[in-house]
Amino acid sequence: MYKELPANFWLPTAEKIAMFDSITAAIRGISPERQTREFFEAVFGLAKHGSLPLTFRDGIHEIKAHQPFALIHGLPHDRAGIDFAPYDNKNPQQQRWEKQSHVTEAVLLLYAILRDRNLITYRTVNQNADEMAQHHYVSFHDIFPQEKFYDTQSSRTNGKVDWHQDLAGKRHRPLNVPIIGVHVPGDNRIWTVFAQTPDILNRLSPKTIAVLMQERFFTPNDVLVTAGDPSLRSEPPHSVFSPDPKTHDMCYFSKRTRPLRDDDEEAWLAIAQIENVLSDPSIARGIIFQDGSLLSMNNAEGVHAKFIELLTDPSAATLRHLMKSFEIGKKTPPAELVLEQVARKMYVYDR
Ligand SMILES: [Fe+2]
Repeated sequence: MYKELPANFWLPTAEKIAMFDSITAAIRGISPERQTREFFEAVFGLAKHGSLPLTFRDGIHEIKAHQPFALIHGLPHDRAGIDFAPYDNKNPQQQRWEKQSHVTEAVLLLYAILRDRNLITYRTVNQNADEMAQHHYVSFHDIFPQEKFYDTQSSRTNGKVDWHQDLAGKRHRPLNVPIIGVHVPGDNRIWTVFAQTPDILNRLSPKTIAVLMQERFFTPNDVLVTAGDPSLRSEPPHSVFSPDPKTHDMCYFSKRTRPLRDDDEEAWLAIAQIENVLSDPSIARGIIFQDGSLLSMNNAEGVHAKFIELLTDPSAATLRHLMKSFEIGKKTPPAELVLEQVARKMYVYDR
């Protein structure tokens, strides 16, 4: 259906086991939620001085800073039913809070540190009630279906997610979104796919591109509004493609991005044309996640989506558990500046 993305490298099983043990020894049960700073310190220490497989260190150093995606297979992760109690679909936020093993989170953080990236975090549907009340925002986000969000376009859905970028409406959106497979049971064919800006531009007319380069659009954030907190709405006007031809920046959420003015027929037509391009499977490449696969996608220079090709085991699909982080560049924006400006919305861990 879609072309498979090529893998950068596979971690051999013996090295995966050794890396699992190194991480467990380094983090010593420290929780990224309850002892956030200590967790970051422990993983920074492991990245700097600790024992990590050379296949992992060298493989990550070979990933180019600006490549649009990266794919690694065979990474260590917390094992559902062994290292933590599998989540159910009622209250996975609370189950994340109670999870004792945090190898997956450490792998996501190592992936950022070894590429000189920072993590950034936002208020999302991943917070539980206590965390919301305490303005505590998590850095590692489960992608796991939750009944009350099954029909949304969030990481809590049980269905497909249309073409989008993560947090596209934010002033400081993540540059990169790494996702790792924690527990993918069954043999369902659920794709995570990525389409790059240059490929999309190649299929559009110059006139359509000119319209899409103008600030004639906005993207309402329906999930957080549905979740009952209208203060989380963020709807600044934006263009779909950057007017700067030197960048490949996009800002687009299928079926959600719309013209500022309802009667802007030219803008509606441009949206119809971009939808037409994205509906052709040959525009995209992707993977069917397995346990321990890490797919990292550039969140500015393209769009990604989750599509279901074949659902042989619907109950297994409700247990599909991935985890992601949000990365920004080391210097943009400076950590303290972010803390000052939007302290209650997000923060950056910097060194
Ligand atoms: Fe996404």
